[in-house]
Amino acid sequence: MLNLEREGWGGRKVLVTGGASFIGSHLVDSLLERGASVRAVDNLTSGRIENLKQHQGNPRLEFVEADLREPGVARQAVEGRDVVFHLAADHGGRGYVDLHQAGPASNLCLDGLIFSEALRARVGKTVFASSGCVYPNYLQTDTSKELYLTEDLVRPPYDADNMYGWAKLMAELTLAAYHREHGMAAASCRYFTVYGPRGVENHAVIAMIARAFLGKNPFDVWGDGTQIRNWTYIDDIVSGTIRAAEKIDDAAAVNLGTMERVRVLDAARMVLEYTGHKAEIRLLPNMPTGPRNRVADNRLAKRLLDWEPKTPFAEGLRRTIDWYYGEKKKEEVTEMFEQKLTER
Ligand SMILES: NC(=O)c1ccc[n+]([C@@H]2O[C@H](COP(=O)([O-])OP(=O)(O)OC[C@H]3O[C@@H](n4cnc5c(N)ncnc54)[C@H](O)[C@@H]3O)[C@@H](O)[C@H]2O)c1
Repeated sequence: MLNLEREGWGGRKVLVTGGASFIGSHLVDSLLERGASVRAVDNLTSGRIENLKQHQGNPRLEFVEADLREPGVARQAVEGRDVVFHLAADHGGRGYVDLHQAGPASNLCLDGLIFSEALRARVGKTVFASSGCVYPNYLQTDTSKELYLTEDLVRPPYDADNMYGWAKLMAELTLAAYHREHGMAAASCRYFTVYGPRGVENHAVIAMIARAFLGKNPFDVWGDGTQIRNWTYIDDIVSGTIRAAEKIDDAAAVNLGTMERVRVLDAARMVLEYTGHKAEIRLLPNMPTGPRNRVADNRLAKRLLDWEPKTPFAEGLRRTIDWYYGEKKKEEVTEMFEQKLTER
């Protein structure tokens, strides 16, 4: 059996599906840095090839632009790979997940295909990018509760978050069944509201930064602002995902998220303060808000992976704002901003 912890990543042949995405591209960075050879497959429907431009000319990165659902593509993608990180998905931010069901439903087919091809090709380890959206909605309604979601709370009666969450849940359960019945080595990582450089405006933190960048006044905040989240910085997500590949074989699902509880309204105020943008906050309670109280318990990750997030929200937010202001052009952001809030 593949032992990544003992043998390391040098020379490993890895597939990252969705490798041009926000999270996928950072994972590719880290795997290349560790000496792996990476094949990144992405159809660029929401990923951007610019996210990988820093590796141009690197012979250890092979980029394939293709739709993994097309006949033969998934089979070719997994061929000869020691490890598969499956991140490709029809996914967007809260606006997208609430307002679109058919698109995310296509993940059922995409995930099933990747896993069955990985099994067929006897890939040494398959790691799946799951989500906090697998947790039952009914548990996450009361903001007065200091709730931390432990992995075992994903059990019957299931109540996942929109079709997006149901597909993630089905993928986790598929991997668990493949492990039980076929001995396939796998892990699922439940990511919680990831943010950082290369993040996209359809996610709340980047949308807030974009509003400040564009000088919006009033400054819109979706919901009544009391929703609680545990925004988790990209570097922590990447290190946790790699640890999961190294440490988990039995298809266990593990939370990758901080235990820092941040209200949406407080996040908005922090953005205004750091950017120096002066504006009146306007709450929009009728816009999609998602669960009111969603924060991970990350003690299982500490125990299984010897991992914990290193980046406090205030620090990660400053880094993300610095990146955004350094990178973006006002005309380009203005042009796509409103549409991006509910699309991929
Ligand atoms: N960003 C978050 O907060 C968050 C939270 C939980 C889980 N996730 C999961 O992490 C993964 C990466 O998400 P992200 O936020 O970096 O951005 P993302 O949604 O843009 O990533 C998905 C990537 O998959 C590609 N893709 C989609 N369908 C494809 C197909 N059929 N064939 C090939 N490529 C395809 C897209 O172009 C994109 O690059 C996704 O699986 C997402 O569900 C993200």
